[in-house]
Amino acid sequence: MPTAFVTGASSGIGRAFAERLAADGYELVLVARRRDRLEELAAALGRTYGVAVEPVAADLADSGAVAGLGDRLASSPPDLLVNNAGLAHYMPFQELPPGKARELIDVNVTAPVLLARAALPGMLGRDSGAIINVASLLAFSGAATGPTLPQRAVYAATKAFLVTHTQVLAAELAGSGVRVQVVCPGVVRSEFHSRQGLDVSAVPRMEPGQVVRASLADLERGTIISIPGLPDESAITRWDDASLALSEVALATELPDRYSQRSA
Ligand SMILES: NC(=O)c1ccc[n+]([C@@H]2O[C@H](COP(=O)([O-])OP(=O)(O)OC[C@H]3O[C@@H](n4cnc5c(N)ncnc54)[C@H](OP(=O)(O)O)[C@@H]3O)[C@@H](O)[C@H]2O)c1
Repeated sequence: MPTAFVTGASSGIGRAFAERLAADGYELVLVARRRDRLEELAAALGRTYGVAVEPVAADLADSGAVAGLGDRLASSPPDLLVNNAGLAHYMPFQELPPGKARELIDVNVTAPVLLARAALPGMLGRDSGAIINVASLLAFSGAATGPTLPQRAVYAATKAFLVTHTQVLAAELAGSGVRVQVVCPGVVRSEFHSRQGLDVSAVPRMEPGQVVRASLADLERGTIISIPGLPDESAITRWDDASLALSEVALATELPDRYSQRSA
Protein backbone atom coordinates (compact mmCIF):
# COMPACT_ATOMS: atom_id res chain seq x y z
CA MET A 1 0.00 0.00 0.00
CA PRO A 2 1.30 3.51 -0.75
CA THR A 3 1.91 5.75 2.25
CA ALA A 4 1.37 9.47 2.76
CA PHE A 5 2.32 11.91 5.52
CA VAL A 6 0.04 14.94 5.69
CA THR A 7 0.58 17.95 7.95
CA GLY A 8 -2.30 20.18 8.99
CA ALA A 9 -4.78 17.33 8.52
CA SER A 10 -7.15 18.38 11.31
CA SER A 11 -9.15 20.73 9.04
CA GLY A 12 -9.51 22.34 5.63
CA ILE A 13 -7.19 21.42 2.79
CA GLY A 14 -5.12 18.97 4.83
CA ARG A 15 -8.21 17.08 5.90
CA ALA A 16 -9.34 16.97 2.26
CA PHE A 17 -5.94 15.55 1.25
CA ALA A 18 -6.32 12.88 3.93
CA GLU A 19 -9.83 11.98 2.76
CA ARG A 20 -8.84 11.75 -0.90
CA LEU A 21 -5.64 9.81 -0.25
CA ALA A 22 -7.45 7.35 2.04
CA ALA A 23 -10.03 6.84 -0.71
CA ASP A 24 -7.13 6.17 -3.10
CA GLY A 25 -5.83 3.45 -0.75
CA TYR A 26 -2.97 5.27 0.97
CA GLU A 27 -1.92 4.42 4.51
CA LEU A 28 -1.67 7.73 6.32
CA VAL A 29 0.21 9.58 9.01
CA LEU A 30 -1.76 12.70 9.92
CA VAL A 31 -0.14 15.57 11.82
CA ALA A 32 -1.63 18.62 13.56
CA ARG A 33 -1.95 19.94 17.10
CA ARG A 34 -5.60 19.02 17.71
CA ARG A 35 -5.34 15.38 18.67
CA ASP A 36 -9.11 14.91 19.07
CA ARG A 37 -9.74 16.02 15.47
CA LEU A 38 -7.02 13.73 14.12
CA GLU A 39 -8.28 10.74 16.11
CA GLU A 40 -11.84 11.27 14.94
CA LEU A 41 -10.68 11.58 11.31
CA ALA A 42 -8.37 8.56 11.56
CA ALA A 43 -11.20 6.41 12.92
CA ALA A 44 -13.63 7.59 10.23
CA LEU A 45 -11.15 7.01 7.38
CA GLY A 46 -10.20 3.60 8.75
CA ARG A 47 -13.87 2.59 8.94
CA THR A 48 -14.76 3.91 5.50
CA TYR A 49 -11.74 2.92 3.46
CA GLY A 50 -10.11 0.14 5.52
CA VAL A 51 -6.71 1.88 5.51
CA ALA A 52 -4.34 2.31 8.45
CA VAL A 53 -4.33 5.93 9.65
CA GLU A 54 -2.04 7.11 12.43
CA PRO A 55 -2.82 10.43 14.10
CA VAL A 56 0.26 12.26 15.41
CA ALA A 57 -0.33 15.33 17.59
CA ALA A 58 2.57 17.73 17.10
CA ASP A 59 3.20 21.47 17.06
CA LEU A 60 5.18 22.38 13.94
CA ALA A 61 6.32 25.61 15.59
CA ASP A 62 8.25 23.44 18.07
CA SER A 63 11.72 22.62 16.71
CA GLY A 64 11.96 19.46 18.84
CA ALA A 65 8.66 18.18 17.48
CA VAL A 66 9.77 18.89 13.90
CA ALA A 67 13.05 17.07 14.54
CA GLY A 68 11.11 14.06 15.86
CA LEU A 69 8.88 14.02 12.79
CA GLY A 70 12.00 14.37 10.63
CA ASP A 71 13.55 11.29 12.27
CA ARG A 72 10.43 9.40 11.49
CA LEU A 73 10.39 10.55 7.85
CA ALA A 74 14.06 9.68 7.46
CA SER A 75 13.58 6.15 8.78
CA SER A 76 10.27 5.51 6.95
CA PRO A 77 10.03 7.86 3.98
CA PRO A 78 6.46 7.96 2.68
CA ASP A 79 5.48 7.78 -0.97
CA LEU A 80 3.93 11.24 -0.59
CA LEU A 81 4.70 14.06 1.84
CA VAL A 82 2.12 16.85 1.92
CA ASN A 83 3.45 19.94 3.68
CA ASN A 84 0.10 21.63 4.16
CA ALA A 85 -0.03 23.04 7.72
CA GLY A 86 -0.01 26.80 7.74
CA LEU A 87 -1.39 29.98 9.25
CA ALA A 88 -1.46 33.65 8.30
CA HIS A 89 -1.74 36.15 11.20
CA TYR A 90 -2.94 38.85 8.80
CA MET A 91 -2.13 42.27 10.26
CA PRO A 92 0.11 45.27 9.57
CA PHE A 93 3.74 44.22 9.93
CA GLN A 94 4.49 46.84 12.58
CA GLU A 95 1.74 45.34 14.77
CA LEU A 96 2.69 41.69 14.24
CA PRO A 97 4.03 40.44 17.59
CA PRO A 98 7.55 39.02 17.17
CA GLY A 99 6.40 35.65 18.50
CA LYS A 100 3.71 35.45 15.81
CA ALA A 101 6.21 36.46 13.11
CA ARG A 102 8.45 33.64 14.26
CA GLU A 103 5.54 31.19 14.36
CA LEU A 104 4.66 32.07 10.74
CA ILE A 105 8.19 31.34 9.58
CA ASP A 106 8.55 28.23 11.75
CA VAL A 107 5.29 26.60 10.58
CA ASN A 108 5.10 27.87 6.99
CA VAL A 109 8.80 27.67 6.06
CA THR A 110 11.08 25.87 8.51
CA ALA A 111 8.85 22.85 9.09
CA PRO A 112 8.19 22.08 5.39
CA VAL A 113 11.87 22.52 4.52
CA LEU A 114 13.08 20.26 7.34
CA LEU A 115 10.42 17.61 6.74
CA ALA A 116 11.23 17.51 3.03
CA ARG A 117 14.95 17.41 3.80
CA ALA A 118 14.36 14.44 6.11
CA ALA A 119 12.18 12.48 3.67
CA LEU A 120 14.11 13.15 0.48
CA PRO A 121 17.17 10.87 0.88
CA GLY A 122 14.93 7.85 1.42
CA MET A 123 12.76 8.81 -1.54
CA LEU A 124 15.86 9.20 -3.71
CA GLY A 125 17.17 5.86 -2.43
CA ARG A 126 14.00 4.26 -3.76
CA ASP A 127 13.99 6.58 -6.77
CA SER A 128 10.33 7.32 -6.19
CA GLY A 129 8.21 9.63 -4.12
CA ALA A 130 6.59 13.03 -4.16
CA ILE A 131 6.45 16.16 -2.04
CA ILE A 132 3.61 18.66 -2.26
CA ASN A 133 4.07 22.04 -0.60
CA VAL A 134 0.89 24.03 -0.05
CA ALA A 135 1.61 27.70 -0.72
CA SER A 136 -0.91 30.35 -1.82
CA LEU A 137 -1.62 32.71 -4.69
CA LEU A 138 -0.53 35.41 -2.25
CA ALA A 139 3.00 34.20 -3.06
CA PHE A 140 2.61 36.26 -6.24
CA SER A 141 1.03 39.28 -4.53
CA GLY A 142 4.17 41.23 -3.67
CA ALA A 143 3.41 43.95 -6.21
CA ALA A 144 -0.26 44.26 -5.26
CA THR A 145 -1.26 47.33 -3.30
CA GLY A 146 -4.64 48.55 -2.10
CA PRO A 147 -7.16 47.50 0.48
CA THR A 148 -8.63 44.35 -1.11
CA LEU A 149 -5.83 42.01 -0.09
CA PRO A 150 -4.98 41.14 3.53
CA GLN A 151 -2.00 42.63 5.32
CA ARG A 152 0.49 39.88 4.77
CA ALA A 153 4.15 41.01 4.74
CA VAL A 154 5.37 37.81 6.40
CA TYR A 155 2.66 35.36 5.31
CA ALA A 156 2.97 36.17 1.59
CA ALA A 157 6.76 35.96 1.83
CA THR A 158 6.59 32.51 3.46
CA LYS A 159 4.48 31.31 0.54
CA ALA A 160 6.80 32.94 -2.02
CA PHE A 161 9.61 31.04 -0.29
CA LEU A 162 7.80 27.75 -0.95
CA VAL A 163 7.35 28.60 -4.62
CA THR A 164 11.05 29.37 -5.18
CA HIS A 165 12.18 26.49 -2.98
CA THR A 166 10.01 24.01 -4.86
CA GLN A 167 11.00 25.24 -8.31
CA VAL A 168 14.71 25.07 -7.53
CA LEU A 169 14.32 21.67 -5.88
CA ALA A 170 12.41 20.39 -8.89
CA ALA A 171 15.34 21.33 -11.11
CA GLU A 172 17.76 19.56 -8.73
CA LEU A 173 15.62 16.43 -8.81
CA ALA A 174 15.07 16.35 -12.58
CA GLY A 175 15.96 12.94 -13.90
CA SER A 176 15.17 11.24 -10.58
CA GLY A 177 11.94 9.46 -9.78
CA VAL A 178 11.04 12.03 -7.11
CA ARG A 179 8.58 14.78 -7.98
CA VAL A 180 7.89 18.03 -6.16
CA GLN A 181 5.00 20.42 -6.51
CA VAL A 182 3.92 23.68 -4.95
CA VAL A 183 0.17 24.20 -5.02
CA CYS A 184 -1.11 27.78 -4.87
CA PRO A 185 -4.79 28.03 -3.97
CA GLY A 186 -6.80 31.23 -3.95
CA VAL A 187 -9.49 31.71 -1.31
CA VAL A 188 -10.62 28.33 0.07
CA ARG A 189 -13.44 27.36 2.42
CA SER A 190 -11.70 26.18 5.62
CA GLU A 191 -11.02 27.39 9.17
CA PHE A 192 -8.14 29.51 7.90
CA HIS A 193 -10.00 32.84 8.07
CA SER A 194 -12.41 32.16 10.94
CA ARG A 195 -9.57 31.21 13.26
CA GLN A 196 -8.19 34.72 12.66
CA GLY A 197 -11.58 36.22 13.48
CA LEU A 198 -12.21 37.12 9.82
CA ASP A 199 -15.62 36.75 8.20
CA VAL A 200 -15.15 35.90 4.52
CA SER A 201 -18.60 34.39 4.07
CA ALA A 202 -19.36 36.97 1.35
CA VAL A 203 -16.21 36.05 -0.60
CA PRO A 204 -16.44 33.30 -3.25
CA ARG A 205 -14.33 30.38 -2.05
CA MET A 206 -13.07 27.17 -3.61
CA GLU A 207 -13.78 23.90 -1.78
CA PRO A 208 -10.75 22.16 -0.21
CA GLY A 209 -11.51 18.98 -2.17
CA GLN A 210 -11.19 20.90 -5.45
CA VAL A 211 -7.71 22.11 -4.45
CA VAL A 212 -6.71 18.53 -3.68
CA ARG A 213 -8.16 17.22 -6.93
CA ALA A 214 -6.24 19.81 -8.96
CA SER A 215 -3.01 19.29 -7.02
CA LEU A 216 -3.00 15.51 -7.43
CA ALA A 217 -3.98 15.76 -11.11
CA ASP A 218 -1.14 18.24 -11.64
CA LEU A 219 1.27 15.94 -9.80
CA GLU A 220 0.39 13.22 -12.31
CA ARG A 221 1.00 15.66 -15.17
CA GLY A 222 4.34 16.76 -13.73
CA THR A 223 3.21 20.35 -13.14
CA ILE A 224 5.54 22.03 -10.63
CA ILE A 225 3.50 25.16 -9.88
CA SER A 226 -0.10 24.03 -9.53
CA ILE A 227 -2.68 26.83 -9.55
CA PRO A 228 -6.11 25.23 -9.21
CA GLY A 229 -8.09 28.34 -10.14
CA LEU A 230 -6.00 29.29 -13.19
CA PRO A 231 -7.81 28.78 -16.52
CA ASP A 232 -4.79 29.49 -18.76
CA GLU A 233 -1.52 27.96 -17.56
CA SER A 234 0.52 30.09 -19.97
CA ALA A 235 0.43 32.74 -17.21
CA ILE A 236 2.87 30.51 -15.26
CA THR A 237 5.21 30.34 -18.24
CA ARG A 238 5.09 34.13 -18.58
CA TRP A 239 5.85 34.53 -14.88
CA ASP A 240 8.78 32.08 -15.21
CA ASP A 241 10.07 34.00 -18.23
CA ALA A 242 9.90 37.33 -16.39
CA SER A 243 11.69 35.81 -13.37
CA LEU A 244 14.40 34.37 -15.60
CA ALA A 245 14.92 37.72 -17.33
CA LEU A 246 15.52 39.34 -13.93
CA SER A 247 17.76 36.55 -12.59
CA GLU A 248 19.95 36.78 -15.71
CA VAL A 249 20.83 40.39 -14.74
CA ALA A 250 23.02 38.76 -12.06
CA LEU A 251 25.79 38.55 -14.68
CA ALA A 252 25.77 42.30 -15.41
CA THR A 253 29.00 44.06 -14.50
CA GLU A 254 28.14 47.61 -15.61
CA LEU A 255 25.51 49.98 -14.27
CA PRO A 256 22.83 51.02 -16.78
CA ASP A 257 22.59 54.62 -18.05
CA ARG A 258 20.00 55.71 -15.47
CA TYR A 259 22.78 55.79 -12.84
CA SER A 260 25.16 57.86 -14.91
CA GLN A 261 24.06 61.26 -13.47
CA ARG A 262 26.10 60.88 -10.27
CA SER A 263 29.87 60.95 -10.51
CA ALA A 264 30.60 59.07 -7.25
N1 LIG B 1 -7.97 28.85 3.14
C1 LIG B 1 -7.41 29.63 2.22
O1 LIG B 1 -8.04 30.57 1.70
C2 LIG B 1 -6.00 29.33 1.77
C3 LIG B 1 -5.57 29.93 0.57
C4 LIG B 1 -4.29 29.69 0.12
C5 LIG B 1 -3.45 28.85 0.84
N2 LIG B 1 -3.87 28.30 2.00
C6 LIG B 1 -2.93 27.42 2.72
O2 LIG B 1 -3.51 26.14 2.84
C7 LIG B 1 -2.94 25.48 3.95
C8 LIG B 1 -4.06 24.84 4.76
O3 LIG B 1 -4.90 25.87 5.26
P1 LIG B 1 -6.47 25.71 5.38
O4 LIG B 1 -7.09 26.72 4.50
O5 LIG B 1 -6.87 24.31 5.26
O6 LIG B 1 -6.66 26.26 6.87
P2 LIG B 1 -7.12 25.56 8.22
O7 LIG B 1 -8.46 24.94 8.07
O8 LIG B 1 -6.94 26.62 9.28
O9 LIG B 1 -6.06 24.41 8.44
C9 LIG B 1 -4.74 24.68 8.85
C10 LIG B 1 -4.12 23.38 9.33
O10 LIG B 1 -2.77 23.66 9.75
C11 LIG B 1 -2.59 23.12 11.05
N3 LIG B 1 -1.63 23.90 11.81
C12 LIG B 1 -1.60 25.24 11.99
N4 LIG B 1 -0.61 25.57 12.83
C13 LIG B 1 0.01 24.40 13.18
C14 LIG B 1 1.09 24.08 14.03
N5 LIG B 1 1.76 25.01 14.74
N6 LIG B 1 1.45 22.78 14.15
C15 LIG B 1 0.78 21.81 13.47
N7 LIG B 1 -0.26 22.06 12.66
C16 LIG B 1 -0.63 23.33 12.52
C17 LIG B 1 -3.96 23.16 11.69
O11 LIG B 1 -4.09 22.18 12.71
P3 LIG B 1 -4.15 22.45 14.30
O12 LIG B 1 -4.72 23.80 14.53
O13 LIG B 1 -4.97 21.31 14.79
O14 LIG B 1 -2.72 22.33 14.70
C18 LIG B 1 -4.86 22.80 10.52
O15 LIG B 1 -4.92 21.39 10.38
C19 LIG B 1 -2.13 26.52 4.71
O16 LIG B 1 -0.76 26.33 4.43
C20 LIG B 1 -2.59 27.84 4.12
O17 LIG B 1 -1.59 28.82 4.17
C21 LIG B 1 -5.13 28.50 2.48
